[in-house]
Amino acid sequence: TAPLRIAIAGLGTVGAGVIRLLNTNGDLIAARAGRSIEVVAVSARDRTLDRGVDLSDYAWEDDMSALVARDDIDVLVELVGGSDGPALAASRAALTAGKGLVTANKAMIAHHGLQLAELAEGKNAPLKFEAAVAGGIPVVKGLREGTSANALTKVYGILNGTCNYILSEMEETGADFAETLAEAQKLGYAEADPTFDIEGIDAAHKLAILAAIGFGAKVDFDAVRVNGIVQVRAADIAQADALGFVIRLIAQADVEGEGKDARLLQRVRPCLVAKDHPLAPVDGPTNAVVAEGNFSGRLLFQGAGAGDGPTASAVVADLIDIARNEVGAPFSIPVAQLAAFPAAEPGHRMERTY
Ligand code: NDP
Ligand code: HSE
Repeated sequence: TAPLRIAIAGLGTVGAGVIRLLNTNGDLIAARAGRSIEVVAVSARDRTLDRGVDLSDYAWEDDMSALVARDDIDVLVELVGGSDGPALAASRAALTAGKGLVTANKAMIAHHGLQLAELAEGKNAPLKFEAAVAGGIPVVKGLREGTSANALTKVYGILNGTCNYILSEMEETGADFAETLAEAQKLGYAEADPTFDIEGIDAAHKLAILAAIGFGAKVDFDAVRVNGIVQVRAADIAQADALGFVIRLIAQADVEGEGKDARLLQRVRPCLVAKDHPLAPVDGPTNAVVAEGNFSGRLLFQGAGAGDGPTASAVVADLIDIARNEVGAPFSIPVAQLAAFPAAEPGHRMERTY
């Protein structure tokens, strides 16, 4: 069978990780996918940078949109980032040309995912974004496929590795916020603009995507109420500890009410988590997602939420699905069937502790 020919835009933490993974596990991937996955061309800003991987076999394009114009490409793998700009333009162009799109770009999917999914559906082109939510944890697949027989009542968890790394380091070693953020940046966990992490926006992007998949809702990023961890102080962590809690940035989506009265409440905020709750021991860049289904009961998905290897693992799993022609609707059901849940009125609620 002919190889699946891919172009990779973005050769940073995730892009270089994808090349390393394909080089290391190429044979087992070919056996599982039924054909090989072949990198044909790549693009990044700086052609001279040593990225720790050999790029000499691949064509280089300075402009990522030139990757899409190539007729020897089946799938664009977009690992550049940014909700708009060149990543969005190239992604639209790929789907418009009927090519596949695999992306780790949660900002783009949270803002433009519905439009991209409509394009994909119209062209019968695959669109996949497992790596956009919770790094290496197959939670998009888990909710699309694993809980598809259930009505979900809630989806919540730890969706930002950088914040979790900062909070757990502050808790365990008394480390300073700014120094730990700098460390998370060095380790490749943080966004290009880390305010997206620490202000909760990245977790909100991911929550809006999960809510769409879990509840069959239209992605509604603007409805997410967001508070990040910038105001969490060492003294707050110490006080929580004395009371038997840890502090975690929790993203949560609940459907309240039924039928025409159903409302979707989406929140990201630091919460007190009791030390005996399954989310409390989740530390470092680990993420964890809890989904509660009416027949499955409580499911816990846990694993590395950021970093090159885990994120590359999710990207390549999407490529294997495309190589096998096992794709389906990007948000589980066609865009036209996704419900426009009104957002729950903020009002006053006692914030939940876990
Ligand atoms: P990096 O900043 O490490 O890499 C971004 C890459 O994009 C760089 O190689 C950069 O080029 C390239 N780039 C920037 N602008 C352009 C452009 N106009 N044309 C072509 N290439 C361009 O980011 P990450 O690898 O960390 O993240 C990539 C995506 O994956 C983002 O959407 C991010 O949110 C997402 N993600 C990241 C995770 C992580 O743990 N890091 C986890 C899950 C998702 P150059 O190197 O030359 O500067
Ligand atoms: N900056 C993100 C995080 C990367 O820290 O979780 C993974 O999406």
